[in-house]
Amino acid sequence: MLPRIPQARQLLEQRFAALYADLGQTRLDGWLAQLPQQLTRTCFDTPHGKREMWLETLLALPPLVPSKRDFSAARVMLGQAADCDDATRARLQQLLEVFIPWRKGPFELFGIHIDTEWRSDWKWARVAPHLDDLDGRLVLDVGCGSGYHLWRMLGAGAQLVLGVDPSLLFLMQFQAVKTYAPEAPTHFLPLRSEDLPDFGGTGFDTVFSMGVLYHRRSPLYHLQELHAALRQGGQLVLETLVVDGDVRTLLMPEGRYGKMRNVWFIPSVPLLLLWLRRLGFVDVRCVDVARTTVAEQRATAWMRFESLADFLDPADAGRTQEGYPAPVRALVTATRG
Ligand SMILES: C[S@@+](CC[C@H](N)C(=O)[O-])C[C@H]1O[C@@H](n2cnc3c(N)ncnc32)[C@H](O)[C@@H]1O
Repeated sequence: MLPRIPQARQLLEQRFAALYADLGQTRLDGWLAQLPQQLTRTCFDTPHGKREMWLETLLALPPLVPSKRDFSAARVMLGQAADCDDATRARLQQLLEVFIPWRKGPFELFGIHIDTEWRSDWKWARVAPHLDDLDGRLVLDVGCGSGYHLWRMLGAGAQLVLGVDPSLLFLMQFQAVKTYAPEAPTHFLPLRSEDLPDFGGTGFDTVFSMGVLYHRRSPLYHLQELHAALRQGGQLVLETLVVDGDVRTLLMPEGRYGKMRNVWFIPSVPLLLLWLRRLGFVDVRCVDVARTTVAEQRATAWMRFESLADFLDPADAGRTQEGYPAPVRALVTATRG
């Protein structure tokens, strides 16, 4: 097995080379002075027990050619059932299962439906009507998970879509899908938003941060990172947990929230909008508020651990197990002034 590892590493390096080539064609090319070192450090130099097994799995994916791709449908689709025989499909499914848990999707690959924990297409349906036209835009998705929304952004016409997320598993899931669209101008960077450069007002046209703010110990720093990544006049699309209340309302859970250990701040909508205005965003608007349901987030064959139903109080679905208000998410749009 081990002799194949340099080959597998090469595969990722090829994918990053395609990223550098795409980035080099844009006004964001100054990032190339530091990006290769950043990616080598996070991708190869940081110890991770499963990296080699995952790389080996990527390398083993069957070299199929999709007769159809659809990035605008609810299930991001690459390849139809007729593009491969049953034995190859069974092998592909076995390899894709190595990357369980699949949380963000759904995907359909050569007739295999990856039924993910989240119906991320529902989130996209809430977001899409409020976007400035993505046609020809440079787009960044901070905390992109498996990259499901990256494909939907590409389907909406973006010129180049970059996702950043520190999870190596999500990098591998993205790369597994990308095996069947290697030339697509969408790329996954295994980085944190803290690693993003300040583009000095000439950055991305649209920056998304969905489901990240409450994971940050310093939410205002996170909003500043998003501001620094945007060009002047660019659109921020922010989605995060909120609680009911006025501009003085902020929930900081004592310990876990919905069994999650890493939830720090959940503001009210008015407070969230104030944070954004204070940091220099204009035209700040809350365009949607939605309670997360057990139909949208649930355990499936592709995510076999506990899910939302297990995080809520069995006697009161309006509360988490810890007694906090059950998850409600707001969607906010704003412009870098
Ligand atoms: C709840 S998921 C949201 C995924 C996707 N954006 C969505 O809305 O479906 C949060 C993601 O943020 C990532 N994340 C956490 N801290 C981050 C950081 N500092 N920078 C970038 N991503 C981060 C996690 O790895 C995880 O994939």
